[in-house]
Amino acid sequence: MSEDKTFLDLQKARRSVYALGRDVDMTDAQLEDLFKETIKETPSAFNSQTVRAVFAFGDQQDALWDMIIERMRQVVGDPEAFKKTEAKLNGFKKAYGTVLLYTDTDAVKELEENNPAYAQNFYDWSEQTIGISSYALWLAAREHNLGGNLQHYNPVIDEDIKAAYGIPDSWRLRAQFVFGSIEQPAGAKDYIDDDVRFKSLN
Ligand SMILES: Cc1cc2nc3c(=O)[nH]c(=O)nc-3n(C[C@H](O)[C@H](O)[C@H](O)COP(=O)(O)O)c2cc1C
Repeated sequence: MSEDKTFLDLQKARRSVYALGRDVDMTDAQLEDLFKETIKETPSAFNSQTVRAVFAFGDQQDALWDMIIERMRQVVGDPEAFKKTEAKLNGFKKAYGTVLLYTDTDAVKELEENNPAYAQNFYDWSEQTIGISSYALWLAAREHNLGGNLQHYNPVIDEDIKAAYGIPDSWRLRAQFVFGSIEQPAGAKDYIDDDVRFKSLN
């Protein structure tokens, strides 16, 4: 994205891009820095910073998605039915990398205990922060000419990933942000009528 683009332009350019590749100019260290900073700058209730993230690029991206493919093969069962799913999962594997987004449930529990008056809000707020972080990563990637999509193979894949990467028990997997070079842009998007969504009091 060039510098004279507005935030709204960036928002419009961010789409769910599924044809992703590895034609990426940034180094893994640059990408990791960008994503870490992006998550760190994401707001959270009481500045609770409940989001955790795990980064997988290159070979780790292959290993991660191979693991997901094998788990999903077990879940789907019927080899014929799995063909379509496998093709889709191999599409994610071809991307440059994945950011696994977690909520630290211990951090949420601590907030609930320390702030009983708001206890019932903290889990919802942690989910909102996952949403904001996902969107921020998506925009940050797009600003660097990378495409992305958001996946949710949790909770099916949680135990495999936990065992493979030593993820703490308190981390709950909430989303997988898959990113890479844009090999084919997203198609046109439908919008529901403004009349349905918005009311102006003016
Ligand atoms: C909370 C949330 C969950 C989503 N989950 C998935 C998902 O599991 N798989 C997927 O392919 N897309 C997922 N998406 C992407 C939406 O389908 C997509 O954003 C929507 O259709 C609008 O398209 P756009 O992203 O191109 O603007 C998710 C988006 C959000 C915000």
